[in-house]
Amino acid sequence: MDEDFKAIEFKDGKLILIDQRMLPNKLVYTDCRTAEEVATAIKTMIVRGAPAIGGAAAYGVYLALVEAEGNQKLFQALCSTIRSARPTAVNLMWAVDRVMKTAEETGFNREAVFEEADRIFKEDISMNHRLSEIGVQVIRKGDTILTHCNAGALATCGWGTALGVIKEAHRRGYGIHVYADETRPLLQGARLTAWELKKAGIPSTLIPDSAAATLIRDGRIDCIILGADRITANGDVANKVGTFMLSIIAKEYGVPFYSVAPTSTIDFTMKDGKDIPIEMRDPDEVRRPGGVLMAPKGIDVYNPSFDVTPHQNITGIITEKGIIYPPFDKNIERIRNGEPLH
Ligand code: MRU
Repeated sequence: MDEDFKAIEFKDGKLILIDQRMLPNKLVYTDCRTAEEVATAIKTMIVRGAPAIGGAAAYGVYLALVEAEGNQKLFQALCSTIRSARPTAVNLMWAVDRVMKTAEETGFNREAVFEEADRIFKEDISMNHRLSEIGVQVIRKGDTILTHCNAGALATCGWGTALGVIKEAHRRGYGIHVYADETRPLLQGARLTAWELKKAGIPSTLIPDSAAATLIRDGRIDCIILGADRITANGDVANKVGTFMLSIIAKEYGVPFYSVAPTSTIDFTMKDGKDIPIEMRDPDEVRRPGGVLMAPKGIDVYNPSFDVTPHQNITGIITEKGIIYPPFDKNIERIRNGEPLH
């Protein structure tokens, strides 16, 4: 069953978003009526998670078209404001480009542009369900699964990617247990994933990120399942900072490591992960967790929002087209060419 909340919804000419910064303490909705408001919501992480950003941006392009009232220059400028709101998740650029292409091809027809944005939204939900059915094959009854950040319904247009697979295993009665990394510094694991897991009634335990190594070494994790913000042509994966570290530990102890993402997260044009732009965020996210100063004032901070896991550390990439196993470059090329994976 799908969840009883909607992170993104377009209704009555406006985009309605759950303000994810307020969770889990408050379930507050915020409206975006203009393209700039959509860009700001993405930048400030009212809406976050690669597919959710893509879905919100798609509707943002429609709002830009309405606002521009036939002024092409303004339309382009508004779209590029949305497109550059965050740099790492490729779903953002993919969605903006796709809706802009429809705009150009239809002579900037509002109805056609809205339909394309809506199609991106609906496709994401159905791809996530497909991903779950495919991904559940890597889970065995009684497994203990570790996840990082939030790749659930909040991070997508609905249902979720990595968390969708986990929810599907639970729905099938596999008797799984989930360990959720709290995910410093913005605590997407503690605030969002733990909230979704509790709502879904999935037995789960929240851990500080730094406890994962001990759990893995002690044989208490059967597999690691998490999302992706950008996957390059050779299978390198950008995801929330801390993912790379987990992948090294998983490799050391022989624990399967899966990334789950729709193919809209694959950047076929980028050869490998070293070219992925990694977003650097405000030092105060680290200095002042929850707004409270927890470090000496003015201390220098390194706060990358993402890191890149090399494909050598990845067991498989679960997509709606099937599970991509090594050799990743050849198999990703097959997806690009529309060929079957196996
Ligand atoms: O900074 P965020 O919260 O947008 O980062 C989100 C992640 O890293 C997710 O794991 C990723 O986008 C996959 S979401 C299905």
